[in-house]
Amino acid sequence: MSDERPYVLGTGSDEHERLGLQHRLWSNAAHDAWMRARIGPGSVVLDLGCGPGWATFELAQIVTQRGRVLATDLSESFVDFVTGEAARRGHTQIDAFVSDATVDLGARLAARPALDAAWARWVFCFLAEPERAVEAVAAHLKTGAMFAVHDYFNYTAMTTAPRCEFHERAVQATARSWRDRGGDPDVASRLPALFAKHGLEVEHLAVHQRAARGGDSMFAWPDTWWRTWAPKLVDTGYLSREDCDGLFRTLDELARDRTRYILPPPVTEIIAKKR
Ligand SMILES: C[S@@+](CC[C@H](N)C(=O)[O-])C[C@H]1O[C@@H](n2cnc3c(N)ncnc32)[C@H](O)[C@@H]1O
Repeated sequence: MSDERPYVLGTGSDEHERLGLQHRLWSNAAHDAWMRARIGPGSVVLDLGCGPGWATFELAQIVTQRGRVLATDLSESFVDFVTGEAARRGHTQIDAFVSDATVDLGARLAARPALDAAWARWVFCFLAEPERAVEAVAAHLKTGAMFAVHDYFNYTAMTTAPRCEFHERAVQATARSWRDRGGDPDVASRLPALFAKHGLEVEHLAVHQRAARGGDSMFAWPDTWWRTWAPKLVDTGYLSREDCDGLFRTLDELARDRTRYILPPPVTEIIAKKR
């Protein structure tokens, strides 16, 4: 299964590296969320849609060898990487396995210990049926356990200051391409209701909005995003070659001009408790 319905952004080395940089830039927010979800030594934690495991390996350090990190992804190549890297690091507390969050996640979890917490970052926005994933995770959380999510609502608020037509078109093309594949760049707006339906009560809700100028570390997030993703939008017919070239020129200008900046997409944080 796994790579039969490939993840829209791909699983190649460019995406692998981009996810690493993205994790580094967002790791402070992730660690805050994990503390709110009371993840600590001995916890059994699910990393849903773990990718190549940038969060998984840090969670493994936090839960220690007394705990467990169940790391799962649709991509067999990402899961293989997590398994190999866990062995290399001696992280026997990591259990990495392939599953589709909307199909067989519940069956895969059934054979594993109940969860003290679950973590899902930038995964729900790619799922055609997010409720299936919520249902599977909720069913496997212990009473009082937490589900922490970082995902998108109002993705198309991503913009440059001042605004630039090439960037605006690339953002709209991105949202269209995700929706056409069943994803939802506004998925975090629907999650609280889905959580309530499956016995999860939202305890904490927040939005992380960043701003970045050329030279700021956060500038690399939208910059690497567009440089790996925009050519894929061109290849799939969502963006013209001229708009892509215009976007890259704009990024070059922004990198040099500290009077201009980018607002990356806002990230919604939701932390809910199993009743
Ligand atoms: C943007 S990446 C985020 C990876 C990781 N959560 C992180 O924050 O670094 C999205 C991940 O979701 C995975 N994914 C997409 N659809 C999935 C599905 N139906 N079931 C499980 N994983 C899925 C992709 O393979 C990819 O690894």
